[in-house]
Amino acid sequence: MIAINNLTFEIGARALYDEANWHIKPGDKAGLIGANGTGKTTLLKLIVGEYSLTSGSISMAKDIKIGYLNQDLLSHQSDKSILHVAMEAFARQNQLHGEIERLLEKLETDYSDDLIQKLSDKQTEFEALDGYSIEYRAHEILAGLGFSDADQKRKLSEFSGGWRMRVMLARILLQAPDILLLDEPTNHLDLPSIKWLESYLQAFEGAIVIVSHDRYFLDRVVTTIVESKRGKLIPYAGNYSFYLEEKALREEIQSNQYKNQQAKIKQEERLIERFRAKASKAKMVQSRVKALERMEKVEDVDDYNPTVNFRFKFSKQSGRHVVRLEDISKSYPGISILQHANAIIEKGDKIALIGANGKGKSTLLRIVAQADSQFEGKRETGHNVTQTFFAQHQLEALHLDHEILQELQAFAPKHTETELRSILGCFLFTGDDAFKKIRVLSGGEKSRVALAKALTADANFLVLDEPTNHLDIQSVNILIQALKQFEGTFILVSHDRYLLDNVANKIWFIEDQQIKEYPGTYQEYEAWQAKRQQPRAEEQPKKKAPKPEPEPAKTVKPDRDQQTKKLNKALAAIETHIAEKESAISRAESQIADEQVYADPAKLATATQQYDALKSELRALQAEWEKLAEEIMKMD
Ligand SMILES: Nc1ncnc2c1ncn2[C@@H]1O[C@H](COP(=O)(O)OP(=O)(O)OP(=O)(O)O)[C@@H](O)[C@H]1O
Ligand SMILES: [Mg+2]
Repeated sequence: MIAINNLTFEIGARALYDEANWHIKPGDKAGLIGANGTGKTTLLKLIVGEYSLTSGSISMAKDIKIGYLNQDLLSHQSDKSILHVAMEAFARQNQLHGEIERLLEKLETDYSDDLIQKLSDKQTEFEALDGYSIEYRAHEILAGLGFSDADQKRKLSEFSGGWRMRVMLARILLQAPDILLLDEPTNHLDLPSIKWLESYLQAFEGAIVIVSHDRYFLDRVVTTIVESKRGKLIPYAGNYSFYLEEKALREEIQSNQYKNQQAKIKQEERLIERFRAKASKAKMVQSRVKALERMEKVEDVDDYNPTVNFRFKFSKQSGRHVVRLEDISKSYPGISILQHANAIIEKGDKIALIGANGKGKSTLLRIVAQADSQFEGKRETGHNVTQTFFAQHQLEALHLDHEILQELQAFAPKHTETELRSILGCFLFTGDDAFKKIRVLSGGEKSRVALAKALTADANFLVLDEPTNHLDIQSVNILIQALKQFEGTFILVSHDRYLLDNVANKIWFIEDQQIKEYPGTYQEYEAWQAKRQQPRAEEQPKKKAPKPEPEPAKTVKPDRDQQTKKLNKALAAIETHIAEKESAISRAESQIADEQVYADPAKLATATQQYDALKSELRALQAEWEKLAEEIMKMD
């Protein structure tokens, strides 16, 4: 449906695309990937016609409807309700609606047949376009993206950038385009909304091109990958995991071909060398030289892969208490975020603050970072604490007309140019890059500038709000390394499941307007939450959520005590098994949902069999659990 042929696009002297090709077919679900700055956003803009190509062509069906979501937070402003803004997607229906209203008005005084005919025509078209359901459809989509009924009546201008982006996404989805071009759609979404979007896109019947650095998301949604690299678009016929395997395989093959060819060339050259002097062999030598020249050369694997490389360093240790929050209450008109909440951040804590949007994660983070002082209660900073705050708005607050170096100099005037340039070097801005204007930078490049700024702070306490947004997968890996090696304290908000799993040793979440803490990793927390949400979980945590091991009662007699201990231990063991089974089941479920499995009857049969077996094992475990739990209850 869209054919890109020999696309070349130059910025200044640099060719971002050099004879690149790609045919997007109806129903394709493609992930467009590549390192920051390789030209993904540019490609989408070329497709929608915001940029014009240097040479080559992009052709498409004339009446094709494209839904394009921009990576930049558009500062869409409107005083209309978001429900209204979303309904703007239905341009024709809205127009008809207006016309019908006007006709009805006229009909009050004028009963001409002509008018009645017109009305009936309009009404038929309105009905054919499902005009009566547009409000319902807009409402459904907004609800899926996390807007409550009350929210939907609020003005667009009251929402933060991330939420406005969701409204734009809703509007695009409602236009029912033939092809969706989504530039990093998950950047501003929380986990429940990402999951919602995943299932929405899986069911979407048109073609989709998604630019994303979120490997979990890509694996669930796309069936082909196109990598933008060194001016070319390289296709892979599978999801992200497939891409990784296939790429490794292709590189191995290429590397072998290269080595073999090199060996052959050497041998030929030796032959030619040896016989060159012999007149009788002159003809043979000449033809061999020609053949060698004509040989199509295999290139070596291109492992040129510059990556950012940085560490968070600080020179002064903080005291034991880093931040103390006492009796904090915070509310916005119509919503209370925290009520008399308490929490302490201690030195060495690596906290992930998680939960759905709207629960107040960013608000709490701003209170912790002292970026918000509109609350009741006390917030104390500990001894020798130096902090840095990385947030989405820092990204938006970059000065578009500054050059990169200038931006850093304005922020950290005490640093010498050499120091700043060496920091910039860690973030892959070398040489003349330092003089690039912020305005022209790609999403990931801007994020790197903001991270470089954060690095100049010499901080032993980091407050990070969505630090991985826009960063490519390699840069996220480096950020994970840097956070793991960091010897200070941090608290972060992120929806990157991979990052959460890897760096946090404590989980904070907001519940009942309290700050609750789970003392474990994100995976442990997920398992604990899953169990807690089943009805049998009676242990409702108060302020501190205990680890899931049940505590034996202290007051019972010694022999019964022994017995209870044993039972409890057995119970805990079964719980672990149950958790394992449950995650095996969810793995099996996603296997069945994988096209490579469900499209193949034999594979599907095996997968379903495994799934059924797991289910019945789970039921057996649950029965066992109930029996034990009853025995324990009898002992009390
Ligand atoms: N007007 C311009 N002048 C100079 N360089 C530019 C200009 N516009 C874009 N660039 C550069 O072109 C490159 C491609 O930008 P693009 O936004 O397409 O990258 P991207 O692949 O979407 O990256 P990201 O993953 O970070 O979003 C970047 O290095 C950017 O700095
Ligand atoms: Mg981009």
